[in-house]
Amino acid sequence: MSLFITFEGTDGSGKSTQARLLADALRRRGHRVVETREPGGTDLGEGIRELILGPAAPDATPLAMTLLYSASRAQLVDAVIRPALDAGAIVIADRYIDSTLAYQGHGLGLDRGLLRAINDIATGGLMPSITVVVDIEPEVAMSRTERRGGPNRFDAESATFHRRVRDGYLALAETEPQRWIVVNGSGSPAEVHAEIVRQLEPRLPTLEEAS
Ligand code: TYD
Repeated sequence: MSLFITFEGTDGSGKSTQARLLADALRRRGHRVVETREPGGTDLGEGIRELILGPAAPDATPLAMTLLYSASRAQLVDAVIRPALDAGAIVIADRYIDSTLAYQGHGLGLDRGLLRAINDIATGGLMPSITVVVDIEPEVAMSRTERRGGPNRFDAESATFHRRVRDGYLALAETEPQRWIVVNGSGSPAEVHAEIVRQLEPRLPTLEEAS
């Protein structure tokens, strides 16, 4: 039985660390795990990532940015995620469709119906079974990303933006509670990981089912 798990959260929430820790833990249990990240995860996607995080990006319109994220996602779904799921693996994705809804929708105000349609086109409707949002106060997240070195596109913008994105994730989680797991990300990486495993455990396949 394959399983598609996505990780979401604001910049500096620690979700990438948590995605990696969960992948390692599932591998130790004997599962086959494929990890992806967005934007990126394929040659084309990594090229798009360079564009998105590069000097030309601040001039891009929100719609143009959305389409770049979506092009990276379309490639990732076709080249990596679907084949891995078809082969029975567990896929753990660091960001997926909900990043677009939270950042471009709740954060930047693009029409959410339009974004859902774009997400659908990019993914062919492939939805995750479980989405973990690593939830953290924007101020804590921002101080973490500053410590990590250098402002990125959103660090340079206001705390209000990060708050909208965070609230967006929480609103999305509320509308689909059967898919979402909300985890407090303010503890140490080990503490947050333990909480994720505790909440996920009842929904993880047994080794026999997943292989
Ligand atoms: P990245 O350095 O990967 O951030 P993180 O480590 O926090 O994931 O940069 C990705 C940035 O792109 C991040 O600020 C979120 C943003 N993003 C969107 O705005 N929309 C999207 O659909 C995706 C996938 C990412």
